[in-house]
Amino acid sequence: MRIRFIPSNETHELRQRVLRPAQTIAEMEWTFDRAEGSFHLGTEKDDELIAIASFLREPCEQLPGKLQYRLRGMAITAEHQGQGVGAALLRSGLEHLHQLKADLVWCNAREGALGFYGKKGFIAQGSAFIIEGIGLHHLMYRTL
Ligand SMILES: CC(C)(COP(=O)(O)OP(=O)(O)OC[C@H]1O[C@@H](n2cnc3c(N)ncnc32)[C@H](O)[C@@H]1OP(=O)(O)O)[C@@H](O)C(=O)NCCC(=O)NCCS
Repeated sequence: MRIRFIPSNETHELRQRVLRPAQTIAEMEWTFDRAEGSFHLGTEKDDELIAIASFLREPCEQLPGKLQYRLRGMAITAEHQGQGVGAALLRSGLEHLHQLKADLVWCNAREGALGFYGKKGFIAQGSAFIIEGIGLHHLMYRTL
């Protein structure tokens, strides 16, 4: 398995398949994907992309820190979940954020992924909220 930086358009297929099957590929391009400083990581196995995560230069007003990053679109293919792939990908992203001297990373965590982020040192802030068509989310963050 190999983790590498990928261009944002390479995330689209897995974003749609794992996270937003009801949406079109065209909708998989997100604000801040191409903002200066944003980066995307992918895990490859046998030349196939099996996991993605995007670290976007998108600030969150409710949280402190000058150099904030948003972790967005973290997705592991169904057959590779629960095998440490997400943990390894997140670890790589956090290492790079340290090199960039980022202060904080935040995400809107799906209810079903709260346990994963909690294990990785993220703290929930405020009450749960609904993102239409997807479900309950919590704002979570981790200082670096
Ligand atoms: C959530 C997700 C990113 C986690 O990645 P993963 O590769 O499956 O997780 P890992 O195998 O690396 O697990 C790391 C640790 O978190 C735990 N964990 C993983 N998913 C969990 C979950 N949904 N709830 C609670 N704990 C979880 C594991 O048990 C493991 O614990 P350990 O360190 O004590 O062994 C992945 O399952 C996924 O893509 N899910 C579907 C899409 C999704 O919900 N993305 C997040 C959007 S906010």
